[in-house]
Amino acid sequence: MAIPAEAAGHPAPTAPASTASKKKEIEGGLAFWGGRIVPLAEANVNIATHALNYGTGCFEGIRAYWVEEKEQLYLLKLPEHYRRFLKSCALLRIECPYTVEELCAWTVRLLREGRVRHDAYVRPLGFKASRVIGVGLSGLRDEFGIFYAPLGNYVAMDGLRVCVSPWQRISDNAVPSRSKTTGSYVNISLAVDQAQRDGYDEAILLNAQGHVSEASGANIFLVRNGRLITPPVTEDILEGITRDAVIELAQALGIPVEERPVDRTELYVADEIFLTGTAAQVAPVTSVDGRPVGDGRIGPISRRLQEVYLDAVRGRNPAYASWLTPVYEE
Ligand SMILES: Cc1ncc(COP(=O)(O)O)c(C=O)c1O
Repeated sequence: MAIPAEAAGHPAPTAPASTASKKKEIEGGLAFWGGRIVPLAEANVNIATHALNYGTGCFEGIRAYWVEEKEQLYLLKLPEHYRRFLKSCALLRIECPYTVEELCAWTVRLLREGRVRHDAYVRPLGFKASRVIGVGLSGLRDEFGIFYAPLGNYVAMDGLRVCVSPWQRISDNAVPSRSKTTGSYVNISLAVDQAQRDGYDEAILLNAQGHVSEASGANIFLVRNGRLITPPVTEDILEGITRDAVIELAQALGIPVEERPVDRTELYVADEIFLTGTAAQVAPVTSVDGRPVGDGRIGPISRRLQEVYLDAVRGRNPAYASWLTPVYEE
């Protein structure tokens, strides 16, 4: 998706990013579907499905990290993702028949039966499944599934070139921004598509108040005078699980963290900026709208947090072992 950044002081990009290239489709593997594990090819929906027509689904994105030396696959923050998933479902009046514990257990079983031995991304999805014409959320049948796909780095980890998007972040009073509602991803799809066509890697969205909200599929942190600053959960952000993890890491490192509204021009004067997300991990930003962040190189706080995060998710730091659920017997 992303193009590795150029060296420090790079000019505003002019050439369109290579976004037109076709993305590889997910093939093979298994899915949890209809209450059992089946080949992914059998987990299909009908064209008349409500969620396909109206965006009435919600999902999660969970990473699994393969650690070769331990021959182990670790699911990161598994119960946290399912707790958020059930809240997203409740917002859309989707009745998920499973508890957090059952969802965790099915996910482990799915990856185990799929003999997954590589970094992967797990996608639970709940949705309005009835084949009917008409909007609304009640009186409809719900369905639920989980699939997975291989996933390495989703964005470049060595410096992203971002822009402030002309698209505004959806307001919580329009579509709940704190839920992962399928329909709401049109918002960030438009933003990231425009950004990449304009030659950037990523987009930062402002909310209706003109404050910095988040990136397309990632939360944002700024570093100013040695302090981490991130927009609070009332700024139309998704309440990111990686955001919480990074706040925990920063506090353990003695880095002060401030949650407060962020103005657009703070992006231009920040010492460092990085994005956080399950897919994005901890991804430093080296320019915004063609203006270098700090000296245009990855800053020391971003670098340090990226290192400790990547150690934690691969089970290399016992202090964060509780973040991980092993898939194979230890
Ligand atoms: C819109 C949006 N914001 C932020 C995030 C980061 O959230 P998390 O760290 O829970 O993956 C994501 C990814 O899930 C997202 O889709």
